[in-house]
Amino acid sequence: MNTRAGLNWQRVQALAAAERASYVARNPESARLAEDAARHLLFGVPMHWMNDWSTPFPLTVREASGARFRDADGHEYVDFCLGDTGAMFGHAPQPVARAIARQSARGYTAMLPSEDAGPVAAELSRRFGLPYWQFALSASDANRFVLRWLRAATGRSKVLVFNGCYHGTVDDVFVDLVDGVPTQRDSLLGQVHKLTDHTVVVEFNDLSALEAALAQGDVACVLAEPVMTNIGMVLPQPGYWEAAQQLIKRHSTLLVIDETHTISSGTGGYARAHNMQPDALVVGKPIGGGVPCAVYGFTEELARRVEHAKRSAPPGHSGVGTTLSANMFAMAAMRANLEEVMTEQAYQHMFALAGQLADGLRAVIARHQLPWCVTQIGARTEFQFSATAPRNGTEAHAAMDGELEQAIHLYLLNRGLLITPFHNMLLVCPETASADITQLLGAFNDCLTAL
Ligand SMILES: Cc1ncc(COP(=O)(O)O)c(C=O)c1O
Repeated sequence: MNTRAGLNWQRVQALAAAERASYVARNPESARLAEDAARHLLFGVPMHWMNDWSTPFPLTVREASGARFRDADGHEYVDFCLGDTGAMFGHAPQPVARAIARQSARGYTAMLPSEDAGPVAAELSRRFGLPYWQFALSASDANRFVLRWLRAATGRSKVLVFNGCYHGTVDDVFVDLVDGVPTQRDSLLGQVHKLTDHTVVVEFNDLSALEAALAQGDVACVLAEPVMTNIGMVLPQPGYWEAAQQLIKRHSTLLVIDETHTISSGTGGYARAHNMQPDALVVGKPIGGGVPCAVYGFTEELARRVEHAKRSAPPGHSGVGTTLSANMFAMAAMRANLEEVMTEQAYQHMFALAGQLADGLRAVIARHQLPWCVTQIGARTEFQFSATAPRNGTEAHAAMDGELEQAIHLYLLNRGLLITPFHNMLLVCPETASADITQLLGAFNDCLTAL
């Protein structure tokens, strides 16, 4: 018998084929819309990777609210993908909807601060413990801008990232360890600069590798998620960040924590919840309730160094910022989201449900005696195809299986349940209900029974 991830592979393939046929039969209107749109959309979709889901053609969304959305054929779904964190606080949260409706009659963008700017920065400072803030339109942009500021502030050219990381479409991070050798990712299109010249990559949870890389004295900053989330989840080993932060400080390197996904850990993110002391912090995606925007903050000391770098540079464009960054619309959304949606109470609800989900997934996996594991970081839960939790990017990558993921995802989708594509991540939002978790666990159990 051909087995993979503990399963009979013929059965996985047969189930995937049956689910594809069922999807086609269930979604005639999505099929029609996809065919129509393909006449003028390159690749048939507004973003080329929208073709990479498990579905034979894209599912068209008609409307989304709270933990649910409806497709063009009228099916309702419980959404555990939540826009891969963009809608982590639910689709169209009411306070944000009201704020942007109010702002919609008062202007969108003027290249000048609105009255919301000060209160938003003050609230970010209170939550994340860093005194100075700037804004961007996406987490990718925020990371790019932070790297520029920190290279300028330190006079060092290199950035260190962890193998298997993702921080958005930031060129610098697309360097992998292939058999221990830093290697530019070959899937990148139009890449003309040699990324390995200025990017250092080491495995997460490997203190000796980190120390050896920092000892060169040319690393401006370490850019990291406190828990890796984009190659499946990889938790820091006990004591890892305490020791890593000491090493980073000892070598006069700066630490940038990207909380775009780990904001699932609490109102102030993972760093605050675990008493980390980053020099800079980035949050994107859900910070404006799904309205495009992102934020980054600096310590007092780094802010002074950054200001000095700007003042010492010749006048002209800094390479930081875009015209619509910090626009009035995004500011209004962020203010409402921070003050009324990302509340302690909302987090407590999400933690309880994610706990129910993680425990339930473990029980189903154990019932089917599969060598899989489950990791939870606050409102974020992931099942992975390995018996023990991976310790670094290489192990996490080895646990991935795109074909198996797609078979399971499509099975769930055909039963009204959406989970995050490209790995096995499930998010809960303030409007997710206990009955939604029960429904997901029932369908997951049925799927494993069918396999
Ligand atoms: C940790 C992290 N940082 C940054 C980004 C980039 O976000 P965006 O695509 O909104 O720019 C992502 C996207 O998945 C992410 O996971």
